[in-house]
Amino acid sequence: MTKHSRHIFIGSAWPYANGPLHLGHVSALLPADVLARYFRLRGDAVFFDSGSDSHGTPISVKAEAEGVPPADVATRYHEELKREFEALGFRYDVYSKTTTPRHAALVREIFTTLKDKGYLVEREQTQAYCEHDRRFLPDRYVEGTCPVCGFAPARGDQCDNCSSLLEPEKLLDPKCTLSGHTPVWKSTKHFFFQLSSFAEHLQAWVGQQTTWRPNALAFTKQFFTDGLKERAITRDIDWGVPVPVDGYEQKRIYVWFEAVCGYYTAHREFVEGQGHPDAWKPFWDPAARGDQVRHYYVHGKDNIPFHTIIWPSILLGVGGLHLPTTIVSSEYLTIEGKKLSTSRNWAVWVPDVLKRYQPDAIRYYLLANGPETRDADFSWDAFVAKTNNELVATYGNFVQRLTSFVRKQFPDGLPAASAADSQAIVGKAEALFDSIGQKVEAARFKDAIAELFAFLGEANRWLDGQAPWKRIQDDRAAAVATLAAGLRVVANLARLTAPFLPFQAERLAAALGQEVAWEPAPAPPTLTPLDPLFAKIDPKAAQAERAKLGQA
Ligand code: MF3
Ligand code: ZN
Repeated sequence: MTKHSRHIFIGSAWPYANGPLHLGHVSALLPADVLARYFRLRGDAVFFDSGSDSHGTPISVKAEAEGVPPADVATRYHEELKREFEALGFRYDVYSKTTTPRHAALVREIFTTLKDKGYLVEREQTQAYCEHDRRFLPDRYVEGTCPVCGFAPARGDQCDNCSSLLEPEKLLDPKCTLSGHTPVWKSTKHFFFQLSSFAEHLQAWVGQQTTWRPNALAFTKQFFTDGLKERAITRDIDWGVPVPVDGYEQKRIYVWFEAVCGYYTAHREFVEGQGHPDAWKPFWDPAARGDQVRHYYVHGKDNIPFHTIIWPSILLGVGGLHLPTTIVSSEYLTIEGKKLSTSRNWAVWVPDVLKRYQPDAIRYYLLANGPETRDADFSWDAFVAKTNNELVATYGNFVQRLTSFVRKQFPDGLPAASAADSQAIVGKAEALFDSIGQKVEAARFKDAIAELFAFLGEANRWLDGQAPWKRIQDDRAAAVATLAAGLRVVANLARLTAPFLPFQAERLAAALGQEVAWEPAPAPPTLTPLDPLFAKIDPKAAQAERAKLGQA
């Protein structure tokens, strides 16, 4: 395998820095970490970034509720989000935030470039203004009835029910969320991004895409049907990136415009900090890049238009920057069959579950049962069952029976003469690197895991049939050959599971004296004692966990 044969950029959506992670976030973003780990193990050049979306009204609203400055909220939750991702095994090259000075400087540069090229047009606009609170109201401070689907309360920027992008003036029966008063409309100046300039290019480009999730293709095509309208990209607020134009001192750049730029600004800021200020170019710049570049964007379906229309328009407007290759946009995760809601605490919070459950078990559930192409449910009964039946009884058990038997019978290692490990089962394990690799590259994680576990079922049946614990009494050489083949399979499993279940993979590979890589494993040189890979969960736990849902 050629090293660094490809350049893979992976961007996972930047969570708002206004609360901890819950399993809804994880189910949408985890594919990004699996991709990053897989491509790194293959030896490709990978850059994987994300960060905290620290501006915008979600943060101001929280700050106002707490009576603290927005910067306090942003800093506190940034640190928290960073720790939670780390504990779940997310290995970003950089987890940044939108409050860094370098981010602001690069965003302002992008804004100025687009403005100089004529893609930003200044217009007078009417903006919701609350006479009672004496202030302009950001989009999210206005709620009303969605003009598209009739859902209420729909937020002024987007409808939570049908995902339509909205403007506050489109809402029926609008109300100020601060005081409940009906806003008035006042005139104010803003810059509008001329998306229509890119419509033809974008439409042709989207038409060629074959690796996007179906929801991304359908949603984006609908946008073209509706016509690409200009979008205001400045706001009358004081928390955000300042607008690099005289007369705009009281305004800020729209949070979505600058947050999507974060994928690129964080990459540049990071490599500058490493003393390699041009190292981002092979990933982004056609003049400097390698033959094979791929950009994966991973997020939930409510983020689709920002990644398939707005961000590509910015990239095209600036010019010479690589467009997204694959859009990995998940459907939603429900909790015990009901819509996840943070305000009603119908949510499972990451810092809480990590106190009692292994990160690998959480990752496994959300990948094997992820909301890939339709909504998926998290239920505690299913979580306990999947962990106990699949991780403990199928995978863990195979590894444990083999390794503990070998250690008991051969404390000094398997005899060397046992190299007859060419048994078919080893070949089957080795073949999985290609077939599972293809599924991972296509962002089909459920299929990848299903294939792995189908193989584990087969491996368990093979071991039962070989029964080396019986055979060792009459045909020692045959038993040794089985055990050697079994250990080879275990060594391959440590590698094959590594992108999905990284914590146990490291532990298992270390016990075998090996490193993980995405290629068939040689015979392990050692076998040190190994604790069970996964802890069995008491089925009674499910009831207690369920009882916490919806509680204050
Ligand atoms: N903060 C947004 C959300 O939680 C996601 C921003 S993604 C990025 O929906 F594109 F801005 F990075
Ligand atoms: Zn709607």
